[in-house]
Amino acid sequence: MRLLVLGGTRFLSHSVAAEGVRRGFDVVCAARGESGRVPDGAQLVKVDRDADDGLDALTGDFDAVVDVARLSYSWVRRALDTLGGRAGHWTFVSSISAYADHRTGSDELLPPREVDDVQELYGNIKVASENAVLAARPDAFILRSGLITGPGDGSDRFGYWPARMARGGRVAVPEVDQQMSYVDTRDLAAWIVDAAVKGLKGTFDGNGPAVPLGELLRGIADAVGTDVELVPVPESVLVDQKIAPWSGPRSLPLWLPEDFKMMGARDPGPALAAGLNPMPLADAVAGALEHERSLGLDRERKAGLSPREETDLLAAL
Ligand SMILES: NC(=O)c1ccc[n+]([C@@H]2O[C@H](COP(=O)([O-])OP(=O)(O)OC[C@H]3O[C@@H](n4cnc5c(N)ncnc54)[C@H](OP(=O)(O)O)[C@@H]3O)[C@@H](O)[C@H]2O)c1
Repeated sequence: MRLLVLGGTRFLSHSVAAEGVRRGFDVVCAARGESGRVPDGAQLVKVDRDADDGLDALTGDFDAVVDVARLSYSWVRRALDTLGGRAGHWTFVSSISAYADHRTGSDELLPPREVDDVQELYGNIKVASENAVLAARPDAFILRSGLITGPGDGSDRFGYWPARMARGGRVAVPEVDQQMSYVDTRDLAAWIVDAAVKGLKGTFDGNGPAVPLGELLRGIADAVGTDVELVPVPESVLVDQKIAPWSGPRSLPLWLPEDFKMMGARDPGPALAAGLNPMPLADAVAGALEHERSLGLDRERKAGLSPREETDLLAAL
């Protein structure tokens, strides 16, 4: 199998390339090579997806192409124009941010926007990209991923919790009525490669089973195995203390704001039936914690509370 990964130097696309190498495939990664190294055993072809002719260095046919273009309709369009006729199978990684209403969790999509690099239009760009993929490749595999975790995660969101549990002591956790799901990058990668091998087509959400957030955090604490006391903090106190939900500085990651309460509760049934095979939570936590340790547990985080912020929050109870 000759597998082309548009990316391959970080996180999910790196996991996909690594999975392809593990299975003995001929893996070509197309990237600038600025974000990191491709997995050992994969070949890097340097490309610039911002340039009109940026993919010209990619020659020959591919049994499968995996495109993870995050925020650029033009990248998706150009990849289809250049490579769509030379690929046996096509995967596009979209996001559950494509959905319009996370309060109810309906299946309605955002209006498509054929633009590039507008963070506020992330979901709209994903919808436009999905449409372009399906127009060119009606047999494509499109996965709308939920929260991706594991080795290489640059968001600091899920990883906050294993890292925090590893420090032990009294841990502030949000006391909320909310479900949360996640998907490990290695599981998503295995599913993407399986899809290429089997010629799976169709559009799926890509997330594991949803569980109450409190249960998930308890499970993470158990998996880390340190001596912790989880201290539930009511949502009203979090709001009073100006703690941010979901991500970013001074946040409690994975706690969802009111308008996004159903974002972590999407049905994993179709993905599980189509081959997504989530590893046990303990393994996902071990992978996330190892990654956190490689970054440094005491670093300044993109998401979560600093020890001082957490102490102040607990004192406010
Ligand atoms: N993180 C989450 O929780 C989450 C949730 C839902 C969906 N998703 C989706 O999952 C996917 C994640 O993909 P990913 O983890 O592989 O990371 P990514 O941040 O989308 O990067 C993918 C690749 O793009 C390459 N790249 C950047 N600029 C380039 C350019 N001008 N020309 C050519 N290549 C370029 C990067 O390599 P170089 O810099 O080396 O060129 C990198 O290997 C995205 O589609 C994202 O929307 C993520």
